[in-house]
Amino acid sequence: MAYQTLIVEIEDYVALIRLNRPEALNALNSALLAELGDALKAADANEKVRCIVITGSEKAFAAGADIKEMSDKSFVEMYTQSFFSAETETILATRKPIIAAVAGYALGGGCELAMMCDFIIAGDNAKFGQPEINLGVIAGMGGTQRLTRFVGKSKSMDMHLTGRFMDAAEAERSGLVSRVVPAAKLVQEAMAAAQKIAAKSQVSVMAAKEAVNVAYETTLAEGVRFERRTFYALFATEDQKEGMAAFLEKREPQFRDK
Ligand code: CAA
Repeated sequence: MAYQTLIVEIEDYVALIRLNRPEALNALNSALLAELGDALKAADANEKVRCIVITGSEKAFAAGADIKEMSDKSFVEMYTQSFFSAETETILATRKPIIAAVAGYALGGGCELAMMCDFIIAGDNAKFGQPEINLGVIAGMGGTQRLTRFVGKSKSMDMHLTGRFMDAAEAERSGLVSRVVPAAKLVQEAMAAAQKIAAKSQVSVMAAKEAVNVAYETTLAEGVRFERRTFYALFATEDQKEGMAAFLEKREPQFRDK
């Protein structure tokens, strides 16, 4: 499918989704968010896709929600149209893993989009921020909640109240990103990580994603119970038998997603 604001390629079981509004530093307007939702649904349904990478350009992952599109809106319009709501639900409902490959600016909704992905690999030129305070508003796609869970209250407050940016080194130190790589190699590194995931048993990948996400939703005791049940359940799969047999026979496993 041809998109106006995205470039989508599928290579070795990985869907690479590039946000592509260079004239606005990939600002997230309604058209882009709708296309991103469609692309994620298509990737989730496509058996040639086992992992997804979302990236931007070397200058900007995304500089936030589109300020031009929002500036004249009233409370009633934002509220009745549930601005951003359906699109964020689609991102969060994606069952296959999503890696955010972030170079350059990931600000406001751009930082929030990256945090809705399953993990973030940053280029060494990445800059994260929640600068909505400078516009007389606050984050609206989960930033106050997710950034606080990633980096703790003090740093999250600092980011949301001052609007300052965090560089890649600080983001890695604070637990916001899983690793930092040279910006010029970002997509290559993210694709390599995605291909590694794509080679695993898809059922255990989905189960791992679901179990880690439960950690954000429930108590420790409930989460551990959920994990244990899921772990036991995986013994009903052929991939568990294959994975453990391959280890014992000192060979690579041949997973069949069964
Ligand atoms: N919305 C719409 N257009 C944007 C944009 C945004 N969020 N960010 C950048 N652009 C546009 C600029 O208007 C400019 O367009 P024109 O050439 O037509 O003027 C173009 O992208 C290039 O931007 P700059 O000239 O500003 O580039 P720069 O290199 O000087 O600065 C920047 C880069 C620091 C990222 C700066 O563009 C900036 O501060 N952008 C806004 C960041 C921001 O406030 N994001 C939060 C948005 S609100 C939000 O996201 C709410 C939410 O939580 C959901």
